[in-house]
Amino acid sequence: MSKDDAHGLARGLTNYGDADFSVYLRNSFAASMGYSREVLKKPIVGIANSFSGFNNCHRHFPEMLEAVKRGVLLGGALPIEFPTISLGEVFLNPTSLKFRNLMSMDTEEMIRAQPMDAVVLMGGCDKTVPAQLMGAASADLPAIQIVAGPMMTSRYGQERLGACTDCRRFWGKYRAGEISTEAINDIEGRLATTAGTCAVMGTASTMACIAETLGMSLPGTAAIPAVHADRLRAAEATGMAAARMIDNPIRPSQVITERSVENALRMLLALGGSTNAIIHLTAIAGRLGIKVSLRRLNELSDETPVLVNLKPVGANYMEDFFFAGGVGAVLRELKPLLHLDCLTVTGETLGSRLQEKIRPVDRNVIAGANAPLEPAGGLVALFGNLAPSGAILKRSAADKALFEKEGRAVVFTSLADLAQRIDDPDLDVEADDILVLQNAGPRSDSGMPEAGYLPIPRKLSARGVKDMIRISDARMSGTAFGAIVLHVAPEAAIGGPLAFVQSGDRIRISVCDKSIELLVDEAELARRRESFEPSSKPASERRGYDRIYAEEVLQADEGCDFAILQPVGTKRSDAPRA
Ligand code: FES
Ligand code: MG
Repeated sequence: MSKDDAHGLARGLTNYGDADFSVYLRNSFAASMGYSREVLKKPIVGIANSFSGFNNCHRHFPEMLEAVKRGVLLGGALPIEFPTISLGEVFLNPTSLKFRNLMSMDTEEMIRAQPMDAVVLMGGCDKTVPAQLMGAASADLPAIQIVAGPMMTSRYGQERLGACTDCRRFWGKYRAGEISTEAINDIEGRLATTAGTCAVMGTASTMACIAETLGMSLPGTAAIPAVHADRLRAAEATGMAAARMIDNPIRPSQVITERSVENALRMLLALGGSTNAIIHLTAIAGRLGIKVSLRRLNELSDETPVLVNLKPVGANYMEDFFFAGGVGAVLRELKPLLHLDCLTVTGETLGSRLQEKIRPVDRNVIAGANAPLEPAGGLVALFGNLAPSGAILKRSAADKALFEKEGRAVVFTSLADLAQRIDDPDLDVEADDILVLQNAGPRSDSGMPEAGYLPIPRKLSARGVKDMIRISDARMSGTAFGAIVLHVAPEAAIGGPLAFVQSGDRIRISVCDKSIELLVDEAELARRRESFEPSSKPASERRGYDRIYAEEVLQADEGCDFAILQPVGTKRSDAPRA
């Protein structure tokens, strides 16, 4: 066996205790796929394809895949696609977040186990982008991401429709009795009508913009609509860039750094982006030992303006954002605040990217830094005796009249309790009250679903109440809006203070002071703490992935990653273990 045969796909990584035999065997099986010996010697670009029949957002991946492959071939390498699991947001039970870490493990291990020199990550729907970046960061092979791109909008009468802020808007009208069953059924068929991710600045779009800002995807690619021909050109260019990375290896650990993560946080704040993105960015950074501090988020938030006028915070849709100038136009406005020396997958720095000439920017969609939509960032972390490790409020999406407020708590102890009582005509609740949901955090049986957007009790919404303060350890869809305090940490299921709130207690929140306080004296809280019993099923009664999840998942402020997936030697959470 000559060493010359041990290239490309023919590399004998499989261990039979006889290296030459491995090469010989690998060669013969690779030959069965119809590759010639010359082709087998080429360097390999793996393509992690998260296509799935259960993922509507990735419907166009077969076409995009062809373009990526074309780019890889033009770049002189051999493209080899491999499947990973896919996470189609609305088709997963109990909630997609539970499987993000599983997808990250799949991605990481398949990058590491298979013979490739660089990898293209094809993702898009909410959890797939962070899962791939987490996995790629841990594997640390040269990697580049191409996202699905957003859906186009649709129409209902004179109104534009885009999943899924409008889903919620019309559902709210339906609950309030403002539109008929016939109308809601009609709207249902028009909300999501093309391939691609949700059409607003929800989690998928926020994560796409974050991936581009981090430098993990090509400049200008985050916002291209899924069905636009530019997306195929972007896919082709991504394939070529991946092939280039073989001779000039740029690893995720060189791109995702403390400084580029800070740039990404700035982008998140300027977008008024999804609350979920803070969890995901924390998890991605955590894979490289970089800590995202919510106190630092607050510092950045106070000096980063909201610039992007997109739903759910503003008026427009992702296709408008693309035509208005996309991520590049926002970065240009943020330039004085950014670390410009950060390396990107192209080998260029962020600063050199921002020197390129640009088209005119539509200021109705992307405001200038001199005339921002809001002077301070879209997200803020609140701290206090109710959330010692922090809670998140999307201030850009909330009614400001509720920012400094004290009110009476109306508590729901679980999702089931919420479903059972929220619309009860006898529920003791007024518009001034604060709705509290317990036991919906990462260690709860529900696995931290997007249930933090508690519905306004029907008897209040029928009276025209549109927003109330709602507090939980759950998450909220990036496409939702309201005065909603999320990700309370530590969570109720492990005995965080949220577990001890009772109906009738007073709660005070202040966005100005960034505080959230339960106004119950310490002696009474200590008494309640003594009788605490965990509500979730113990890990010992679980099996399989569910058990790994229960034992390993970290709190929201640590990105809900698994402790075992963090770099060796990372200081563990001091949250109690299940
Ligand atoms: Fe995939 Fe919204 S459902 S991005
Ligand atoms: Mg979503």
